Amino acid sequence: MAFNERFANLPAYAFPRLRALLDAHAPGGDPIAMTIGEPKHPAPDWIGPMLAAEAAGFQTYPPNDGEPGLLSAIAAWIARRYGATVDPDRLMVANGTREALFNACLALCPEHKRGGRPVVAMPNPFYQVYGVAALAAGAEPLYLPATRETGFLPDYRGLPPAVLDRIAIAYVCTPANPQGAVASAGYLADLLALAERHGFCVFSDECYSEVWRTAPPPGLLAVAAGQGADPERAVVFNSLSKRSNVPGLRSGFVAAGPAGMARIRQLRAYAGAPVPLPIQRVSARLWADEAHVAASRALYHAKFADADTILGGVPGYAAPEGGFFLWLPVPGGDGQAAALRLWQRTGVRVLPGEYLARDDAEGGNPGRGYIRVALVAPPDQTRAGLIRLRDGLFG
Ligand SMILES: Cc1ncc(COP(=O)(O)O)c(C=O)c1O
Repeated sequence: MAFNERFANLPAYAFPRLRALLDAHAPGGDPIAMTIGEPKHPAPDWIGPMLAAEAAGFQTYPPNDGEPGLLSAIAAWIARRYGATVDPDRLMVANGTREALFNACLALCPEHKRGGRPVVAMPNPFYQVYGVAALAAGAEPLYLPATRETGFLPDYRGLPPAVLDRIAIAYVCTPANPQGAVASAGYLADLLALAERHGFCVFSDECYSEVWRTAPPPGLLAVAAGQGADPERAVVFNSLSKRSNVPGLRSGFVAAGPAGMARIRQLRAYAGAPVPLPIQRVSARLWADEAHVAASRALYHAKFADADTILGGVPGYAAPEGGFFLWLPVPGGDGQAAALRLWQRTGVRVLPGEYLARDDAEGGNPGRGYIRVALVAPPDQTRAGLIRLRDGLFG
């Protein structure tokens, strides 16, 4: 039996690797999971009743691109949040950002760029779908260190022009998972200018945009509009998963230029899975409501403050600017050993940073010295987990 060679060398996904690392060992206390980025704050209580009221919509095929009411609710949210005007024709509803991050790359990555195999570039460590999207598109993935030295964002400006010329798509994640860095408007503007000069497209994964600490992170759509950039250069992804604490709803969107969106929509029409109509209706109402988002953010603020108090004295600790992960350097520089030690001593489960990163040519891995700690649980449980983490690893 032959299988697609493009995916032959993928490492095992982070969570099976974590189970293989930890599950043979007894936890040193009641387990506390701080691994997966699954928000545990309350979601609006009207979602269930509204889904039930809209259930007849499950009996029809949903509109592929999104109902007009949903697309205008998203456009209105973008206008409120970023002050940017986006025509609903430049939007498409998606089953969360992961699906869209993958399919938009398939739809927009050319077969060749300047006579050669195109490059799809991304930060390292990174959200893993970017790498698989690059492979699926037949492109060469380029993993750019997003480390303390680079401000925890990929340094596109530092790449040689010959490499930039080969890039077809450049992913950026802001706020970044796992590092928690926020790309400034200046960073995004520079990236768009590079994209214009070297003929590539910027894919901005903004699904943590509403989980921020001191100020709302800038978004690529507004930056592009502000500098009069070619709208085809900017493709933006967002979702309700983190914003509204409904990762299981599978509802997000992608925004692109008119020509790019036509291609993204065409691929959806042939091969995509549209979002069920009742979910589209609920989504429109969620995008229109900010009160539940502000309430959830207030819970994150309380947890960030706890993290500052509990881990403030830990070397290398820095609060994230956005998103809900701590990206914590560990003593000894081995995140895998630290995750195992923590589990065995305290029952706290965290993800070794190297599971979220690719090895470089020298066998180094920019995530190796870190653990990723998700602050998704309710504040009491998060506080208990952080205290055990501090005492178990740094005590
Ligand atoms: C950086 C990043 N992008 C995208 C996603 C996918 O989220 P969803 O498909 O639920 O929108 C996640 C989920 O954890 C993520 O961390």
